Amino acid sequence: MSPPSASGAVPNGAPASPESLPTSVAPRKYALATLLVHSGALEEDPLGASSPPIYQTATFRQPGATTGGAYDYTRSGNPTRNAVETQWAALEGAERAFLFTSGMAALATVTHLLSHGDHIVAGDDLYGGTSRLLARVCPAAGLEVTNVDTCDVEAVIAALRPGRTKLLMLESPTNPRLQICDIAALSRAAHDAGALVCVDNSILTPLYQRPLDLGADISMTSATKYPAGHSDLMAGALAVRDAGLAARLAFLQNAEGTGLAPHDAWLLGRGLKTMALRMERQASNAARLAAWLAARPEVRGLAYPGLRASAGHSVHVAQATGAGAILSFTTGSVELSRALCEATRLFKITVSFGGVASLILMPCFMSHASIPAEVRAARGLPDDLIRISAGIEDIDDLLADLEQAFDAATKAVADSKPALALK
Ligand SMILES: Cc1ncc(COP(=O)(O)O)c(C=O)c1O
Repeated sequence: MSPPSASGAVPNGAPASPESLPTSVAPRKYALATLLVHSGALEEDPLGASSPPIYQTATFRQPGATTGGAYDYTRSGNPTRNAVETQWAALEGAERAFLFTSGMAALATVTHLLSHGDHIVAGDDLYGGTSRLLARVCPAAGLEVTNVDTCDVEAVIAALRPGRTKLLMLESPTNPRLQICDIAALSRAAHDAGALVCVDNSILTPLYQRPLDLGADISMTSATKYPAGHSDLMAGALAVRDAGLAARLAFLQNAEGTGLAPHDAWLLGRGLKTMALRMERQASNAARLAAWLAARPEVRGLAYPGLRASAGHSVHVAQATGAGAILSFTTGSVELSRALCEATRLFKITVSFGGVASLILMPCFMSHASIPAEVRAARGLPDDLIRISAGIEDIDDLLADLEQAFDAATKAVADSKPALALK
């Protein structure tokens, strides 16, 4: 991986593993930034439409009563969705990709590959919704879940039960603390124990990290985030190389009716065209924000994979081509963190990440509130943690906004102390 440049910019277009385009633009090999724009199947319109058609239909007329056509029912397959799935598979270097109604629908489908009595090993710093799925839905289906610090390869090996553990569920970087785990080493260990490996790659997307290249079996992305890019669409993606696994996922997508709707697939395809440009700007902004925050006296425990001093940096640069655009930090005071979030003007207090607008939130009260307080405490997820998702705004405006917010928050907390003391 090329590390972030001095300016904080990440390499353009992540030309890690070019794929060939399945269209007339082939046979040259293209970088991912090009594959995002020239989406192959989406552009194969007989009338040459620059914007691909949306097959907004539930059913397809069949050639005969006993003969089937290419498509029959949109739950089972739709040309608009399938075109974006083909494009996504190319981005991941996958055999096949599947698009779902949300990232959680994609993750739930992965757990449906397992059977009653199977065991899952999962990280202990995961998105709150994933934690909820694993803690409250999977056990009801007879699945046992062990959460472990996935930065510690030995701890993961100790948690794996050969023959019984069927899934290792990872995030790297994790949400919200941006911890890094060694995907290749963990994949080898899981495979030795007979388990599949699923990596939630939502924070980086295949543009900056390709889990399948690192040995994972399933690459998962919440396409709600960077791929959609405008906070106006819910979608999730799974990508796999193994044909048998692909067949099982195709079966589940159809059987459970979780495939992405045609119009949403079209919106996602449109979002993908600008993803490289957006992520490059967002990552560059995040790197500048991280450098600025590192110099603030109020900031503690700053986590950003692009910081050379951050834990896991060397593992990250070996397995990813960019640092992404999410960072988190603590202030030592829930009150100060709250005041800071509320004093920002450009950074909107919003869950999720990856959209063009910069966002700020306190995970313990928002995105990760579904994890019980005692579990959060045991996992070392502090209440005063702030997570920022950098948008594409002008960096000087973002820095100025944070500066005025820090000043206002510090003053508000200082002013409130005497009042509290009087009570
Ligand atoms: C890391 C991560 N994975 C999965 C999800 C779930 O994705 P969705 O909200 O698209 O269901 C999220 C949502 O915030 C997330 O942050």
